[in-house]
Amino acid sequence: MTDKTHLVDEITGHRRMRRNRKADWTRRMVQENRLTVDDLIWPIFLVPGTGIIDPIAAMPGVNRMSVDKAVEAVKEAADLGIPAIATFPDIEMELRDETGSQSLAADNLVNRATAAIKKAVPNIGIITDVALDPFTSHGHDGILRDGVIVNDETVDQIVRAAVMQADAGADIIAPSDMMDGRIGAIRRGLDAAGHQDVGIMSYATKFASGFYGPYREAINTGGLLKGDKNSYYISPANGTEALRDAALDVEEGADMLMVKPGLAYLDICWRIKEAFGLPTFAYQVSGEYTQIKAAAMNGWIDGNRIMMETLLCFKRAGCDGILSYFSLEVARKLAKG
Ligand code: PBG
Repeated sequence: MTDKTHLVDEITGHRRMRRNRKADWTRRMVQENRLTVDDLIWPIFLVPGTGIIDPIAAMPGVNRMSVDKAVEAVKEAADLGIPAIATFPDIEMELRDETGSQSLAADNLVNRATAAIKKAVPNIGIITDVALDPFTSHGHDGILRDGVIVNDETVDQIVRAAVMQADAGADIIAPSDMMDGRIGAIRRGLDAAGHQDVGIMSYATKFASGFYGPYREAINTGGLLKGDKNSYYISPANGTEALRDAALDVEEGADMLMVKPGLAYLDICWRIKEAFGLPTFAYQVSGEYTQIKAAAMNGWIDGNRIMMETLLCFKRAGCDGILSYFSLEVARKLAKG
């Protein structure tokens, strides 16, 4: 029954994309990517003390938790099937100093949490960061000397911190500091300490981004930061440079690569996955989380829908998984079916 009054031509008539979209069952048949609980890594914020669940104003629904409360929350995450968590500490101001010396305390907040979680919830992976920013009085990821973040000295320190984190039970070290040569140095340090099975997830391409704002409130580094991080993070303008940086991390022994932030950098996710074929993760960072939450709280968007859509889009862009503050919420939702 062709109606000659329509403008759709004969060739189009044979090639109708909508056939595969016509019903729920066809759509399910042709679905290329799926989000499952195995794709989720859950970043959590730690505070000293006990019994504390402290809401983060700029990240509605996200709390800073004392170690005991973190253990309970991680138990739920493990029960839901989330494969791994990532920890970030908000330590006492009086413990922060020029060199971030708390990063080298064997019983610092991160290491105490790792040990407690490992003991109580042995079947979930623990990913720890070695960047110095939670520990420095100036909020930079490395050691600040005469206005410069000194690379090699910082690397020496983060290698020692990484070994201590592994000693405490960390399964994967994820350095987010972007110092040159850190991946190889951490690998050698871990191996020398007998931690051959501890992996490295490199924040291979970490961009100098405005999307980190709420995170800096969460760990109270925002007010401290002197200047910016442009001398070590990658410019949002540069994709090829990001690929070169990731290539070095691969050569130096990274087991997994990460792209951060996520949604505005999906091209980088795709290029990295294509170029190296390593397990590739995206970090849907604090600002990405917050903008979805804020708009949803105003009734301007459907927050649940956009949460699921963004996470699925990371899969389509080639990611093997996503670090997301939505992870627990999504895992609960997926469990309900
Ligand atoms: C710094 C670090 C950052 C984040 C985690 N570790 C960025 C920064 O503060 O410069 C951001 C995470 C987020 O925004 O969710 N090493």
